[in-house]
Amino acid sequence: MSFEPRNLFVTGGAGFIGTNFVRHWLSKTKEGRVIVFDALTYAGNMDNLSGLERNPRYEFLRGDICDEAKVRKLLEQSRIDTLVHFAAESHVDRSILGPDDFIRTNVVGTHALLKAAKALWIDKKMVPAHRFHHVSTDEVYGSLGPADPAFTEATAYAPNSPYSASKAASDHLVRAYHETYGLSTTVTNCSNNYGPYHFPEKLIPLTIVNILLGKPLPVYGDGLQIRDWLHVADHCEAISLALKRGKAGEVYNVGGNSETANIEIVRALCELVDLRLAARPELEKQFPLSPRFNGKSAAELITHVRDRPGHDRRYAVNYDKAAHDLKYTPAKNLKSGLAATVDWYLHNIPWWQALLGRDYADWLTKNYSR
Ligand code: NAD
Ligand code: DAU
Repeated sequence: MSFEPRNLFVTGGAGFIGTNFVRHWLSKTKEGRVIVFDALTYAGNMDNLSGLERNPRYEFLRGDICDEAKVRKLLEQSRIDTLVHFAAESHVDRSILGPDDFIRTNVVGTHALLKAAKALWIDKKMVPAHRFHHVSTDEVYGSLGPADPAFTEATAYAPNSPYSASKAASDHLVRAYHETYGLSTTVTNCSNNYGPYHFPEKLIPLTIVNILLGKPLPVYGDGLQIRDWLHVADHCEAISLALKRGKAGEVYNVGGNSETANIEIVRALCELVDLRLAARPELEKQFPLSPRFNGKSAAELITHVRDRPGHDRRYAVNYDKAAHDLKYTPAKNLKSGLAATVDWYLHNIPWWQALLGRDYADWLTKNYSR
């Protein structure tokens, strides 16, 4: 039986994927409300949501998912029937430097949400039908060898970083709340997203921004690690499908069909940015240090640095189940998706420049000196 989501409570909706999802959902549906609930950590950004304040279906509320009482009150006040859970500490490198926040938000925070949802939806029967959708990652499955088959939903969990271990723990809690209390849950485990509003600490936006600023492009180890890149719009569509067509208690893998080595991604971005800057000489004033404006190519900035400890070598996602049960198929191709992403960063320079003064600079310094 399909579920009709109506009033959504979107945790982490001011982050990269949450922002894209909220915009996607509001543009594809005509009814129902969307409450974004976000603590606005370094990764949360109100600029991501700008323009939405004019939409009467949308509301932003600041808060921490670990605050169970507050979450419960808000779910009750707004008669929420659908919780879409993005809020997390999401950067693997940060989890290596400081795992505590990851355990707090990803494990304790997810559990606080589950408790609030159970209290209202199971114990109080507040709404006739409900759904708790948990957004998770392919990293819970660990690392693949070159010839291994792609991860399926039956692949054993083998997380290798504090980040992926915390996500694995949260996935298990979601499963347990379905099995034990009958909470209507779905989980999507997806691969590496890219696209608009991506915080410039992750590989793709970091590379684009550093080329423009003429800074080194740090490639961990040999750069031959493989990720299955997924355009964020495809991920948002997969989540929408899981909300409407997903079966309670089920897990769906979501992939992009785009396995690519990191070094290839970085080289492709170097070519793309060089090409765009060649066509836009007026940008030299803003980016005088970018190699293209100094008779060089961006690829000269590539710098192999010390590898990430516990670095997963390869991810690949088998999404047959989502294709069959949800009718999901990734629509974006990596080549055009990367070009569109470069264009987005070139058309939204103030968006990412505003982030440079924040935690970003400190983060880069720490990262390089590892
Ligand atoms: P992000 O880091 O860009 O955003 C996280 C958001 O959560 C931010 O807005 C932040 O302010 C908020 N947040 C953090 N702690 C909070 C707390 N305690 N209470 C309330 N809000 C809090 O993350 P993202 O890349 O958009 O990822 C979203 C989700 O998708 C995460 O659960 C992540 O594990 C998962 N995921 C991400 C990817 C990816 O490639 N980015 C891939 C697979 C899965
Ligand atoms: O697979 C899904 C995961 O993808 C999500 O669960 C995470 O939240 C998300 O951050 C992402 O994790 P990764 O560690 O794969 O993404 P990141 O962009 O940090 O790194 C991508 C690859 O590029 C990885 O192999 C590490 C490498 N890398 C990364 C950075 C930031 C570099 O070589 N240099 C860099 O500067």
